[in-house]
Amino acid sequence: MERELTMEFARVTEAAALASARWVGRGEKEEADNAAVEAMRSLFDTIHMNGTVVIGEGEMDEAPMLYIGEKLGTGEEPKVDVAVDPLEGTNLVAKGMPGAIAVLAVTERRCLLHAPDMYMNKITVGPQAAGRIHLDAPVKENLHNVAQALNKSIQDVTVVIMDRPRHYEIIKQVRDCGARIRLITDGDVAPAVACAIEDSGIDIMMGIGGAPEGVLAAAALRCMGGEMHARLCPENEEDIRRAQSLGIKDVNKLLTLNDLVSTDDIVFTATGITEGPLLKGVTFNADGATTHTVIIRGKTGTVRFIEARHFFAKKPKYAIKGVY
Ligand code: FBP
Repeated sequence: MERELTMEFARVTEAAALASARWVGRGEKEEADNAAVEAMRSLFDTIHMNGTVVIGEGEMDEAPMLYIGEKLGTGEEPKVDVAVDPLEGTNLVAKGMPGAIAVLAVTERRCLLHAPDMYMNKITVGPQAAGRIHLDAPVKENLHNVAQALNKSIQDVTVVIMDRPRHYEIIKQVRDCGARIRLITDGDVAPAVACAIEDSGIDIMMGIGGAPEGVLAAAALRCMGGEMHARLCPENEEDIRRAQSLGIKDVNKLLTLNDLVSTDDIVFTATGITEGPLLKGVTFNADGATTHTVIIRGKTGTVRFIEARHFFAKKPKYAIKGVY
């Protein structure tokens, strides 16, 4: 993938974030999601690429846009696969809570796990602690190894876990070890990626969340030399059939970063919608808005943070009629 494309992808997540940020705190998660999807979809069409959605809003019959298999871009080279979550954290936007992002990952063809919409057990760390975790290891062992790799005491290690009854046992075990916990209500992509960002304040993320979100996080972690272990959590026979129909033969397999994303030819971009562990949120100003985006490129490992000022007089599609 040409380097120039990275900025094009950043414009896509910026557009989705700007559109859904209008819905912050309004209690309308579907509208917020629709706004992000529409904005993301329309920007993709301007990009010179032949893209196929492999992780998106659902199957063709359940999602009108950004459905799995949908073609994106002008149709010219390069041929790429696209994973999107136009609004990662719909509840967070609806309630005006921190941590919502618009996010995507693009890779060369056939390099992203076609993760079905089901749960996945995950553990993620940044580059310093890569090689020191195992999904099947006891919590205590993982925490001890990560603390050692980061050259700090377990009491100074911060673990992000989703606040769900399914995690009460892990939460107890982490607390018994004396480590710090940040419980989150939604949105596990940003904290997983933040593990690999120095000074984010997050060292490990663990627990069960969405499988598509797991692949998105894996794309960023691979670019930055972090590590992730994962395993699908099918809940019934139908889930198993669905995973198998997407090419996943062994649903119980321990998935490493290479199983989740098998190339370094990756571009990952995310734009903050509400302030979170990775990015600031969208702020609206007198004449437009400011966005914060991270662009990560797998070939070089470069991580760019871009603060953008958008002037609605020159971008009327983002303006609320009569305001700007
Ligand atoms: P949305 O699809 O509503 O944006 O939710 C995303 C999310 O919070 C993910 O970040 C997380 O992996 C998953 O949902 C957790 O699922 P559940 O809410 O069922 O525990």
